This record gives sequence, structure tokens and C-alpha cells, in this order.
Amino acid sequence: MKTHAHIVGWGKSMPPRVLTNDELAQMLDTSDGWIRTRTGIAERRVAADGETTFSMSLQAAQRALEVAGLNPSQLNLIIVATVTPDHAFPATACLLQDALGATHAAAFDLSAGCTGFVYGLSVAAHLISASVYENALVIGAETLSRITDWSDRATCVLFGDGAGAVVLQANGTDGGVLSTVLGADGSGGDLLYLPAGGSKQPASHRTVAERLHYVKMKGREVFRFAVRTMPAATRQVLEQAGLKVSDLDLLIPHQANQRIIESSARALKLPPEAVFSNLERYGNTSAASIPIALCEAVEEGRIQRDDLVVCVGFGAGLTWGAAAIRWSAPLPPAPPSRWEKTWYQLCYRYAALRSLVRRFLRWLFALGVKE
Ligand code: ACO
Repeated sequence: MKTHAHIVGWGKSMPPRVLTNDELAQMLDTSDGWIRTRTGIAERRVAADGETTFSMSLQAAQRALEVAGLNPSQLNLIIVATVTPDHAFPATACLLQDALGATHAAAFDLSAGCTGFVYGLSVAAHLISASVYENALVIGAETLSRITDWSDRATCVLFGDGAGAVVLQANGTDGGVLSTVLGADGSGGDLLYLPAGGSKQPASHRTVAERLHYVKMKGREVFRFAVRTMPAATRQVLEQAGLKVSDLDLLIPHQANQRIIESSARALKLPPEAVFSNLERYGNTSAASIPIALCEAVEEGRIQRDDLVVCVGFGAGLTWGAAAIRWSAPLPPAPPSRWEKTWYQLCYRYAALRSLVRRFLRWLFALGVKE
């Protein structure tokens, strides 16, 4: 019997702080009118001090596990797609593994720009369908506000913070992730990049003074790349699954610019109701944008059981990717009972205690070795 990877849990976490276009217009030479017309964005969320890619990932993951009714110790794999990890290392996925108490999970971060979540979904789905793993958590999470140059009007109006998560589970029934398509063109790497902070230009007084720790982007060229790749990847992933664009119930595109979304919809001849957009409220949250949109599409009743959904993205690298999914989870999900909620709280407290004990034992062991 063939194994399929089904989405059985989903969750999101957005920072409460809303930053409107009008507030931006008070900080630099821009206007609500320009931002809305050129991008479709009205406001975005911005992380407060102490909120990080890890903290938002943790909340999104906990919600996704609750929907899936899965114990963290049942997870075999955690992938966090991000370009804004808490640290270069250890991986944010490892921080998450510890905080969740996912004691049987492999954990790693994945860097594929805004396409990161689709890349992660593809890797996890293939490992599940190859019967390597049974349960995987895939997260897209970003704190882009920390690498945004708030004096550069060409980029700072675009980005926002947030996290989205899904739980994938092995199942013998048809459906789930039907096919995936991934691509890259590194010749466009310099169209969208973070110049400093890596091995080429480590942090120095000069890199800070020259503002090289902020996103640099050639917007028009990225725009042209996006409108070409998104329809092509959508067609390809459907063809690979033996399906047509007319079979599609909902397209969930990367939320970067409403004009890119509308151009892709026109190229695919999709009516507006077959394309999901929440860009107006969140801006471009990079790798988090597709899982957040997927989560909201489910919450808003835009996805029904057996619907055919395509997630498609493009981003830094340059990269692109698409996943065709036959939605199989029952909707709406049964809310967790009070007992289940208490159980999860106990699991996370136990995970925190376990982590403390392991750190203590490591310290104790180190003392013993010195002697
Ligand atoms: N407010 C007011 N004016 C502005 C602003 C602003 N925020 N930003 C740019 N302008 C001005 C420019 O200076 C320019 O003025 P000029 O004609 O006097 O020189 C004019 O507006 C037009 O600028 P363009 O850059 O040509 O504007 P465009 O219509 O291309 O829109 C945008 C720019 C929104 C960035 C668009 O190119 C875009 O969305 N590109 C795709 C970007 C994207 O999706 N990036 C994310 C990739 S995913 C990832 O991995 C993070």
C-alpha cells in the first residue's frame, strides 16, 4: 500500500503590534495611497522586543499539534523554513524541538527565501511517502522587521513578521500532498539578498555603518521573475499530479504583491474567488506567508474536504516551488477538550523541566571531567 503525506494540523502566530501605512508615512517619504496601489498592503505585524522567529514558531506549532491531536513526542521531523533564524546556529528547529519536548524528532532549518515553506513541505512529504518518517512538523516563520532597513522606502513598506505551521502525517488513503515542484536560479541571487553577516562579510563596524545587515532588493526584476514563475510552477505541479488548472479549487500564492497575485491569476484564467489573499493585513512575511494563508483559508471556510489546493511561491535564491494538495482533514476540526489542553500544558512544562535537568546534568558531568 502506498503511503501519502496528509496535512492533519495547522496553526499560525502573528505578533499583536500592527504597523499601518499611515504610520510608515510619518516615518519616511511614502503614502498609504502609494503602498496600497503598488502593493495591495494596508498594514503589517511587527514583532515586539522578546518576540522572535522561535517564539512565534512555538505558538504556531503548538496550535498545529492541538488541531492534529498529536503528542510532541510522536513527531519524527521538524523543519523550520526561515531567513531570519534566532541564531545562525543552533537551528531554530532545534530550539523548537527542545521546547516542545519532541524527543524523537530530527530538526533542521531550511533557507530558500519566501519559497522555504514549499521546499520544507516537499522534503517532509517525500520522507513520509518513502516511509522514513510518520509525523512531521513544517513551519515557515520570519522576523523580517529585524533585517528591514526602516529608512529604505523601497523595501520597508513590503515586509512583516509571523509564523505558520502544518503537521504532516503518513496515511494509506489517497490524497494529501499529491505532487511538488521545486526550482532555483542562483544567477538571480543578487536581486534579493542580505549582504553582510555571513562568511563573506562578517559583522564589522564597516558593515554596520554601511547598513549591510539589511535586505537589498531590485524590486522590478523580482517582480518580473515572480509573474513568470508562479503560473508556470502551478501548471507544472498540477500536470505532474495528472490534473488541470480547471480542477483547482483554491490557489494559495506567496503573499508578496497583489499585482503579482492578480497577474498570476489572470495567466491561469482563475476567477478571484479561486485565489486566496491576506496580503492587505500582513504584507510579505516571506517563508511564513503561505502557511499563514493556508491556515486562514481553512479558518475562513475557503477550503473544504476533498478540495484541490495549490500552494505556490517564489523568493530569494532565486527559488520557486509549488505543492498540489488534496485536502483530506475533516473540517472544522474538533476543538481540543479542556483535558486535552491541560495535557498539552503538562507536556510543555515537562519539556521545560527535562531541558533544565539535561543542562544541569551536562554541567555536573563537565565538573566531574575537570576533576
Ligand atoms: N513610497 C513612495 N514611492 C516609492 C516607494 C514608496 N514606498 N517605493 C518606491 N517609490 C518610488 C520610486 O522611487 C520610483 O520613483 P521614480 O519613478 O521617481 O524613480 C517609483 O516609486 C516607482 O518605483 P518602482 O520600484 O519602479 O515601483 P514598482 O511599481 O516596481 O513597485 C515594488 C515596487 C512594490 C517593490 C515592486 O517592484 C514589487 O513588488 N516587486 C516584487 C518584490 C517582492 O516580491 N519581493 C519579495 C520577494 S520574496 C523574498 O524572498 C523576501
